[in-house]
Amino acid sequence: MKKTILTGLRPTGNLHLGHLFGAGHNYIKLQNDYDFYLEIADVQALTDNFNNPDKIRKNVIEITIDLLSIGLDPTKVNFFIQSKIPEISELTVYYSNLVTVARLERNPTVKAEISQKKELFGNDGESITYGFLGYPVSQAADITAFNGEVVPVGEDQLPLLEQCREIVRKFNFIYGETLKEPQAILSETKRVKGLDGNDKMGKSLGNAIFLNDDDETIKKKIMGAITDPAKIKKDDKANPDICMVYYYHNLINKKENTKNICNECKKGARGCVQCKKELIEAINTFLTPIREKRKYYENNPEIVKKILDTGTKKAKEKAEEQMKKIKSAMKINY
Ligand code: TRP
Repeated sequence: MKKTILTGLRPTGNLHLGHLFGAGHNYIKLQNDYDFYLEIADVQALTDNFNNPDKIRKNVIEITIDLLSIGLDPTKVNFFIQSKIPEISELTVYYSNLVTVARLERNPTVKAEISQKKELFGNDGESITYGFLGYPVSQAADITAFNGEVVPVGEDQLPLLEQCREIVRKFNFIYGETLKEPQAILSETKRVKGLDGNDKMGKSLGNAIFLNDDDETIKKKIMGAITDPAKIKKDDKANPDICMVYYYHNLINKKENTKNICNECKKGARGCVQCKKELIEAINTFLTPIREKRKYYENNPEIVKKILDTGTKKAKEKAEEQMKKIKSAMKINY
């Protein structure tokens, strides 16, 4: 019997290179060995986008297309839409009795997000909503509604997983051994840096290369990327270790090219403009198969819909079965 993987993504925007190297490659590897449920977490996305439903609606499809384009196989991965599984919302209500408000307020992921969203939640988080504060409870429901045993996530999600494990332990202690404690698997790849040299590539940081960026956008972004500020003339020697152009060559260009670029840069034998042009070409080559698949799905929206419908149906069956066990343990199986 294969173990169950449950993971989720908020449909708030298109995927970028950070997602691909941080999570996508990991999913592609794992899809062969697990019973894989991939949640498009629209309910969670609404917790801090409740005032922008059009954005979430659009991105449910966009993110599904992105995930299919990078090589996730819909015959191996069950793609499903969170809001189509009401069991998750129901479970969230039951679990909310097992978590204190103080514990949620101490959750480092939640705390960090509140301070990033001043516009929505106020300077000191004084306008935080009940729904946002409680989303870790809903995420515990996401995982346990499918008896998720393995959860591939980035480091920033670990406090949410720990909160889920606490809920599971409390549930099992009070209502009897019912739920499995999920384990996180961290992606092997480190974080991908942003175009501005920031340690993290992020949509909200405005420093991302998106998988659906077109040639023109890639060109603009790379031409503006940060290089060694000490290199002024074309034949100045430079330090590739502090250059974002070299960083991305290293990430996606062929090993032999990258080695050569590094040597030439150190010797002052290559100009930044040439180096950027080569990077633009390398990125376009890298993105070509992804773009081709994207085009296919964009031209065949009924196939995307079918993939979501099929995955959601399977997810619903699994959640219904799990819900029976949970309700019976809680003595609400009337
Ligand atoms: N919180 C995750 C994020 O912001 C998305 C998510 C929703 C998730 N449900 C999940 C991740 C369940 C892992 C497991 O990226």
